[in-house]
Amino acid sequence: MTNEDQFQLATYKKMPIAVEHGTGVWIYTSDGESWLDLYGGHAVAGTGHCHPHVVEAIRKQAGELLFYSNLVYSSARARAAEKLVSIAPKALTKTFFCNSGTEANENAMRMARMSSGREKIITFSGGFHGRTADAISATFLGKYREIGKPNVPGHVEAEFGNIESVRALADNTVAAIMLEPIQSMAGVRMAGPDFYRSLRALCDERGIVLIYDEVQTGIGRTGQWFFAGSDAGGSVVPDVITLAKSLGSGVPVGACLVTDAIASHIKENDLGTTFGGGMLAMAAVTATLEAIEEDRMLENVRRVEAYLRARSREVEHVQAVHGLGFLLGVEFKENAAAIHKRLLDRKIITGTSSNPKVLRLLPPLCLEESHVDMLMAAL
Ligand SMILES: Cc1ncc(COP(=O)(O)O)c(C=O)c1O
Repeated sequence: MTNEDQFQLATYKKMPIAVEHGTGVWIYTSDGESWLDLYGGHAVAGTGHCHPHVVEAIRKQAGELLFYSNLVYSSARARAAEKLVSIAPKALTKTFFCNSGTEANENAMRMARMSSGREKIITFSGGFHGRTADAISATFLGKYREIGKPNVPGHVEAEFGNIESVRALADNTVAAIMLEPIQSMAGVRMAGPDFYRSLRALCDERGIVLIYDEVQTGIGRTGQWFFAGSDAGGSVVPDVITLAKSLGSGVPVGACLVTDAIASHIKENDLGTTFGGGMLAMAAVTATLEAIEEDRMLENVRRVEAYLRARSREVEHVQAVHGLGFLLGVEFKENAAAIHKRLLDRKIITGTSSNPKVLRLLPPLCLEESHVDMLMAAL
């Protein structure tokens, strides 16, 4: 621990754990302590830590070819792209692979500008979209835009859940409306289905591209592959979905899923990245999606979410449980940071949020009822 502090910039407030290995919902320290991971390393460990199918696929691919760029065809890339499109809402037919969530959002906004011929982007108070220049400029949460100064021009802020605030900004200079359909860092805030439906209608009416940043909500976290198309989201399908986090089970990878209409505007050399679509990441993507399917994790998320909600009603100081699936915000009467710390004392990892009363749970999709019991006993 000391060495890491000595040689790394102090950009993260760390928990007092040095992890050595992990399996499922557990991570372990070198002296054999086990920690229940309800945070998944920032929502990355969707398939759980070291899912054997994913590990095996990565091992196999590493022995065959680690990387070659997009200038050649690759069966590993073809498999990942086909698999990803096959689980996506029908209207989303093509994918672009990159390396992270912020990069996926940068490319999504770029595609919206290219396809609409307009520049402005509407995003929402409380939304987080990443830390590169355009994405941080689209982030109206806390101090992030300040950190990203000078901001990219043309970003405007609407109020999440308030369609009139969007309508007032949505003139014919707007290329895209981009949102986290469930705002995670803001304290797991979700709107009603009508809001998403109204956004879709507004975009259709005014020729605006609708982008869902599903970096957190995507790949099964809500108990369905995507928030897009869900009942909770009014069955709305956006023009672009961005993904990262759990897409590669820990191997860095991001992606944009787009409609034919968007794809028709994107030409050779319009987008690019050296590492995007590399074989190791592609093997991880395919294996991640297969593991979620084979282990029926989507059903598991829905069942265990219901159990967690029911059990949380027994805990007197829990006020409400926000969110969907395994993107949950547990609201307490008192300060969540203190509860976060006391859970850490009991070797349970959770996440805080920008809402001081909300504790975030972003566990692996293989979390079971017995793990929920451990959390509830601790609470
Ligand atoms: C909703 C959302 N979008 C984008 C990002 C940025 O992703 P990355 O850190 O991979 O660049 C994050 C990261 O926390 C996120 O939660």
